[in-house]
Amino acid sequence: MATNASWLQEQNREREDYKNEGKYQRRITFKGIICNKIVKGWIFLTIFATVVPVLVYYFVVDQGTYKTNNSSTCSIKSEFRVPCGKINISSADCEKIHCCFELSTETCYHYLPSKYSYDFDENTNGYVAVQKSTPYDSASIQKLNISINEINENKVSIILHEDTVDVSTNTLNSAKNYKVKIADEKLIVEVYRSEDDDLLLSTAKGPLIASNNYSEWSFYLTNQTLLGLNQTLITVDENSTFNAVIYKNNYDHYTLPVFWAYKNKQFHGIVIKHDGPMEITILPSYMVILKSLTGGKIEVELSVGPTPTLLHDQQLVAQNIPSYWTMDTYMCRRGDNVNLTQLIKEYSLDLQATSDCIHENLLAAMMKDNGTNLQGVRGILGQLKEQGIKFLLSVPPQIFGNTTDLYKEAVSLDVLYKYNSTIYKGKYLKQDVVYPDYGHSKIQSYLKAFSTFLVTYIDIEDIDGFVLNANWPANDNYRISNLSFPYFTEDLREAMSNTLPWNSTLNNGSVLHLQKHNTYGYDQLTSMKTYFNSTNPNIFVTSASDTFGDGRPTIIQNVNASWSNLYSHIDNVLFNSIVGNHLVNTPVCGDTAVYDSVIQETLCIRWYLVAATMPAFRIGSTEPWRDPENLNTAFATQTVQRAIQRRKMFLPYYYTLLSRNEPALRPMFYDYYENTTTFSMKHQYMIGENILIAHPLSSGRTKLQVYLPSRIGVWYELWGGKMYNSTGEAWIDIDVVETDFVAFVSQGSVLPLRTDNIFNFIVALNCTSKICEASGTLFEESYLNFNATDTAITISGIPQNCNFTLENVTLYHYTNVSIVTYYTNKNASLCSGEDNITIDYTTESEDGIFI
Ligand SMILES: *[C@@H]1O[C@H](CO)[C@@H](O)[C@H](O)[C@H]1NC(C)=O
Ligand SMILES: *[C@@H]1O[C@H](CO)[C@@H](O)[C@H](O)[C@H]1NC(C)=O
Ligand SMILES: *[C@@H]1O[C@H](CO)[C@@H](O)[C@H](O)[C@H]1NC(C)=O
Ligand SMILES: *[C@@H]1O[C@H](CO)[C@@H](O)[C@H](O)[C@H]1NC(C)=O
Ligand SMILES: *[C@@H]1O[C@H](CO)[C@@H](O)[C@H](O)[C@H]1NC(C)=O
Ligand SMILES: *[C@@H]1O[C@H](CO)[C@@H](O)[C@H](O)[C@H]1NC(C)=O
Ligand SMILES: *[C@@H]1O[C@H](CO)[C@@H](O)[C@H](O)[C@H]1NC(C)=O
Ligand SMILES: *[C@@H]1O[C@H](CO)[C@@H](O)[C@H](O)[C@H]1NC(C)=O
Ligand SMILES: *[C@@H]1O[C@H](CO)[C@@H](O)[C@H](O)[C@H]1NC(C)=O
Ligand SMILES: *[C@@H]1O[C@H](CO)[C@@H](O)[C@H](O)[C@H]1NC(C)=O
Ligand SMILES: *[C@@H]1O[C@H](CO)[C@@H](O)[C@H](O)[C@H]1NC(C)=O
Ligand SMILES: *[C@@H]1O[C@H](CO)[C@@H](O)[C@H](O)[C@H]1NC(C)=O
Repeated sequence: MATNASWLQEQNREREDYKNEGKYQRRITFKGIICNKIVKGWIFLTIFATVVPVLVYYFVVDQGTYKTNNSSTCSIKSEFRVPCGKINISSADCEKIHCCFELSTETCYHYLPSKYSYDFDENTNGYVAVQKSTPYDSASIQKLNISINEINENKVSIILHEDTVDVSTNTLNSAKNYKVKIADEKLIVEVYRSEDDDLLLSTAKGPLIASNNYSEWSFYLTNQTLLGLNQTLITVDENSTFNAVIYKNNYDHYTLPVFWAYKNKQFHGIVIKHDGPMEITILPSYMVILKSLTGGKIEVELSVGPTPTLLHDQQLVAQNIPSYWTMDTYMCRRGDNVNLTQLIKEYSLDLQATSDCIHENLLAAMMKDNGTNLQGVRGILGQLKEQGIKFLLSVPPQIFGNTTDLYKEAVSLDVLYKYNSTIYKGKYLKQDVVYPDYGHSKIQSYLKAFSTFLVTYIDIEDIDGFVLNANWPANDNYRISNLSFPYFTEDLREAMSNTLPWNSTLNNGSVLHLQKHNTYGYDQLTSMKTYFNSTNPNIFVTSASDTFGDGRPTIIQNVNASWSNLYSHIDNVLFNSIVGNHLVNTPVCGDTAVYDSVIQETLCIRWYLVAATMPAFRIGSTEPWRDPENLNTAFATQTVQRAIQRRKMFLPYYYTLLSRNEPALRPMFYDYYENTTTFSMKHQYMIGENILIAHPLSSGRTKLQVYLPSRIGVWYELWGGKMYNSTGEAWIDIDVVETDFVAFVSQGSVLPLRTDNIFNFIVALNCTSKICEASGTLFEESYLNFNATDTAITISGIPQNCNFTLENVTLYHYTNVSIVTYYTNKNASLCSGEDNITIDYTTESEDGIFI
C-alpha cells in the first residue's frame, strides 16, 4: 500500500481552517464520531498491486485510528469549497441536501469528503450511489465505475461511466511515467508522476454526482498555475469563480476543454472528453469542477509533460503537414445577402488575395438560385484560376431552402434533424434551413448528392479547400425556454440558444441533439474529408467547430473590433496554438459589423500587425470591408501592406516550424517558463524559439515594456540590429509608434527570409565565446541548414535541382553602433549541384558595401 506523505500533509493543510473555526454551522452530527476531527489521510491502493487487498479507508483522529466510512468535515478553506445546490438556498434546504452552510456568506457547500460519493458495495461488488438523489433533486444513477485506459507511457485516460456502459481500456506492461491509484472504498482516482510522486490529479476533493440530466465531478491539478480553456493563464479572484461552458455557439466555439497545469517547475495537462453541455467552474484554489447536463461518460485524458514541448507533443493529434499555400493571404466576404445574382455582381477580384472564397454565402446563394447563375459562378472561378488564386469554398452545415434536389435527397435518406417527429426547420442568414446529421450512417450518400449539386456550378477540381463555417451549428431561430434541467444557469442558457434545439433528434428520435452537439462540427469535418478523399485526396479543410478528436477550431468567427477583443483574442489563439491548432489566424479588424473605420484605424493597423505574425492570414468581414484597399486612409493602407509584405518574408520560417509539427505561435512561457513572470504575458509572445514579438495593445502608447528572457543573454532588435543584454535586467523600455512591428531575435540564430527564390539572411551572432556563431534551418522539401560566423556562412542540405540565389546577409554584432551589412554579389546562385556551399563575406563581397 502506497501512501504519499507530502500529499497527505497538503490535504490536511487545505482541510484545516482553524482560524475560521466556529463560523460554521454544523447541522449534521455523526453517531459516535466527532465531526470536526481532522482527516489525516486516506490510504489508496494501487490498482496495479498483484493482490488487491481488502479496502481500508481510515479516518484518523487525534486519539488514534478509527475505521469509518462516514466522516466528513465542514472546516474547509473557502477557496476549496465546492458549491452545493441552488443559489440563494436556505440553510434548512442546504442541510436537507447533505451539505454545509456558512451563515456569514449564506453559502452552501459540500463536505470534505463530500456526502455525494459512490462507495464500494460488497453485495453488488460495485460502486453505488450513497445518496438516492442529487442536490438538484434528480434520481442518482445507481452504479458508476471508473476505468483506466493507459494510452502510452505518458498518457492515460480516466473514464467515468455508468456501470452498464462498456469502455475500451488498455493496460501497459511496460514502464510508465505515471501511477494511477483508485481508492478502494470510494470512487476516487489519483494520478502521480512516477519519477517524484508528485500528485498530478486528484478527484478526492469534490463530490461525485451522477444522474440522467446532471453529473458533477471535480479535479485538482495544481495549487500553483493553471492555464487553459479560452486563454493562457487563468486567474480566479478570492470569493469568485471562473466559469466556462463547453457547448459550441456563435460567441464561443473556441473554448477548449483543455488545461495545462504547472506545479513544482513541471507541466502536465488534461483534455476533457464529453459530448454533452458542460459547465466548468474553477475555484480560487484552482480546483476544477465539471457539471454536465447529460449522463453518459466523462473521459479525462492526462498527459504528464513535464515540459511544455513534451506536453504539446503528447496532446497533439497526428496531423498532416498543411500545404505551403495554406499560409497565403485569404480573402472572404461575409454578410446576409444570399442572392447569387447580386453576389456575383458585387464581386471584384482583389489581387492582394492569394486565396479567395468569393463570398461566404456562395453555397447558400447557389442553393437558392435554382440554376440561374451557373455561368456567373464559372466565370469568376475562371478568373481566379487564371490568376493562380486558390479557391476555398465556405460550406455552412445547413441546407438552404427546400427546392433543391439536394434537399429532396436529404429527406429521402432521412438524414435531417427532426423535432417532434417532423424535420426541424431553423433560420440562418434569414433563410429557412434544415440540418443534416453528419454522423448519420447514410451521410456519405448525402455527400454524394451534395457533390452532384456542387458540380452544377463548380468543378470539384477547382476547389482547393473547404472552410466549414458556422458549424457549431448556427441557428437564429432558437432560444432555449423553460428549464427542463434540474441545474441551469444563464451561461448555459446563452450557450444553448442560437443553435439546434437541445431536444431536436437524430437517428429516428433515439438520440437528442444535446448529446451530440459538441461533435457536430467534427462530424461534418470528418465526413467531408472522407467523401472528398476519393476525388480530391489533398483537400484542405478548415473548420470553426471541431472537437478534440481531430483538429482544433481552425477559424474563429464573430469577433467584434475592439482593443479588448484583440487582447483576449491573442490570448486565446496562443493557447490554441500550443495545444495543436498550428495554423492559427485572426479575423483582421474583426469580422462583424461592429467596426468604425475612422475611430478604429489604429486598432485595425495593430490587428494587421498581429495577424502578420500568424501562420495563417484571413481577411473576411461583413461590411464595412477591412481589406487593405478599403481602409480609411492611404497611410493605413500602406502600413498594412507593408505588414503583409513582411509576413511574406517570414513564411518559410513559419513553414519550417509547421513542418516539424511545432507551434509557430507560442506564449512566452512555452520556451521560457524558467521565470514564472512569463505566464501572464499576452502583449508579447514568440514565433518559434527565436523571434520575440511585442505589441502596444492600446492606442496612444509611446513606450512599451518588453521582457527579453535572460537565459538567452543577448537579443537584437529584429529590423535594426540594436543589441540588448538581458543578462542582468530582463525588462527593457522601448519607444514605439502605433505602426511599429516590434520584434527581437535571439543571439545565435540565422533567420532565412525568402522572397520567391531569393534569400536574405539576418545573422544574429552569438559572440559569447571567441568565435561569433549563429545557426538556423529551413524546410524546403528537405531541411537546409545554415551555420554562420562573422566572416562566412555555410549552407548545407541544398537540393539538387534548386534555383536559389542570395541577395544579402545582414550581420548583427555585439556593438551598439547599429548593424553591419555585407552585400554579396547580387543574385549569387546557391545552387552549384553541390550539397553545400560556403560564402565568405570578406572575399565574395568585393563590391560589397559596408554600412
Ligand atoms: C502549493 O503547495 C505546496 C505544498 O503542498 C506549498 O509548498 C506551496 O506553497 C503551495 N503553493 C501555492 C502557490 O499555494
Ligand atoms: C472574501 O470574503 C471574505 C469573507 O466574506 C472577506 O473578508 C474578503 O474581504 C473577501 N475578499 C474579497 C477580495 O472580496
Ligand atoms: C436577386 O437580385 C436580382 C438583381 O438585384 C433580382 O432581379 C432578383 O429578383 C433577386 N432574386 C431574388 C430571389 O430575390
Ligand atoms: C426552378 O427552375 C425551373 C426551370 O429551370 C422552374 O421550372 C422552377 O419553377 C424553378 N423553381 C423555382 C422555385 O423557382
Ligand atoms: C418548402 O418551404 C415552403 C415555405 O417554407 C413550404 O410552403 C413548402 O411546403 C415546402 N415544401 C416542401 C416540399 O417541403
Ligand atoms: C408534437 O406534435 C403533435 C402533433 O403533431 C402535437 O400535438 C404536439 O403538441 C407537439 N408537441 C410539441 C412539444 O410541440
Ligand atoms: C423541447 O424542450 C422544450 C423545453 O426546453 C419543451 O418546451 C418542448 O416541448 C420540447 N419539445 C419536444 C418536442 O419535446
Ligand atoms: C484517404 O485515402 C487514402 C488512400 O486511400 C487513405 O490512406 C486515407 O486514410 C484516406 N483519408 C481519409 C481522411 O479518409
Ligand atoms: C474566457 O472566458 C471567460 C469567462 O467566460 C472570460 O471572462 C474571459 O475574458 C475569456 N478570456 C478570453 C481570453 O477570451
Ligand atoms: C524573473 O523576472 C523578474 C523580472 O520580471 C526578475 O525580477 C526575477 O528575478 C526573475 N526571476 C528569476 C528566477 O530569474
Ligand atoms: C551562445 O554561445 C555560448 C557559447 O558557445 C553558448 O553556451 C550559448 O548557449 C549560446 N547562446 C545562445 C542563445 O545560443
Ligand atoms: C551582459 O551583461 C553581463 C552583466 O550583467 C555581463 O557579464 C556580460 O558580459 C554582458 N554581455 C555582453 C555581451 O555585453
